Amino acid sequence: MTNIAILGFGVVGSGVADLIVKNNEEVVNFGGDEINIKYILDLRDFPDSPFADRIVHDFNVILNDPTVSTVIEVMGGSHPAYEFTVAALNAKKSVITSNKEVVANFADEFLRLAVKNSVCYRFEAAVGGGIPVISPIIECIRQNKIREVRGILNGTTNYILTKMFSFGESFKAALSDAQAKGYAERNPDADILGIDAARKITILSALVTEKLLSPDDIHTEGITEIRLADVTAAEKIGCKIKLLGRCINDGDAPYVMVAPFMLSGDSALADVSGVYNAVEVVAEPLGNVMFYGRGAGAGPTASAVVGDLMQIMRHGETRGPEVERSSAIAPFDSFSCRRYFAFERSAAETVKATFGDVDFIDSDECAFITPVMSESEAREKKKSATASGFAPLSHIRVL
Ligand code: HSE
Repeated sequence: MTNIAILGFGVVGSGVADLIVKNNEEVVNFGGDEINIKYILDLRDFPDSPFADRIVHDFNVILNDPTVSTVIEVMGGSHPAYEFTVAALNAKKSVITSNKEVVANFADEFLRLAVKNSVCYRFEAAVGGGIPVISPIIECIRQNKIREVRGILNGTTNYILTKMFSFGESFKAALSDAQAKGYAERNPDADILGIDAARKITILSALVTEKLLSPDDIHTEGITEIRLADVTAAEKIGCKIKLLGRCINDGDAPYVMVAPFMLSGDSALADVSGVYNAVEVVAEPLGNVMFYGRGAGAGPTASAVVGDLMQIMRHGETRGPEVERSSAIAPFDSFSCRRYFAFERSAAETVKATFGDVDFIDSDECAFITPVMSESEAREKKKSATASGFAPLSHIRVL
């Protein structure tokens, strides 16, 4: 019998408990042992739940019970998740989490503590929800040179962008729709400003480079500035706009960023619609591989959490990636790519004088794609056009 405790009985916590009960046969066959959900920590009581008798309100009950071998932390937020994780690892309990915020902020420390205490720290559900992506990167493809990992890492923003493209909805209308469907949080800033995606690319970047950056060091843009006119212009040239997290691992230090990108309609990521997530890895000699599926929700996230539990039960102490804290990141100012710009229609002459040889898009505005240029070059050109009386209406990078 493997005794576990779940910290947090929200959407994910109850999904984990349900999966363990409903798929008991599969879980026991795969894990090799019965699982007993001995405790569920929450501030609330759940008198009508079949797990009502497992609810506790004091973490110390779990910490001081030597029969609990694994703690599943699905509370979200950095605190007290950080303190509970440290205490559990030091008490020689393995910890599994879906909490991307605490992983992005403290994974280096947790992984070191897990090794020191001969237990596991696993976080498959923290990126891409139910999509197996952390384990394949750590365990299956590290023999490659991983040049880039990039992905659609936030389902809410992908849903909003899909609505804008497929139904011509404004950003505001699409956001209200996402909130009505329960995808976006009541305060959707972490989704729409790219903060959630920044945490996830921080984690992916740590797997690829073995260096854990601070999410605050990552250039992060959301989707709030994307206009329907940009959607129309993208469609004119067969492109989509997606919010991407990217870690480009091709130099001394990686470029790591979250921003909207315009990408060709026939690229694999362009086809990822609605609340789905996808992570694409570019590696040598492997080539491109893509992991695709449901990035959020009780069932998919519980699948990843319980998958981690199965690995611990089958293999005992599983070594996580070796990750050390770092602030070495390539300066975003030198990041170079082609760019989409839109100005008001009468800006054409100024645009030609400022941006040179651009590809104009047939549009009601003065919209065009530039040759490759760095962030600092683009900034100078925007400044110069603005000084001539034409401020840009949009600027979106091209993948
Ligand atoms: N708010 C997140 C999303 C949930 O929309 O993808 C999963 O991390």
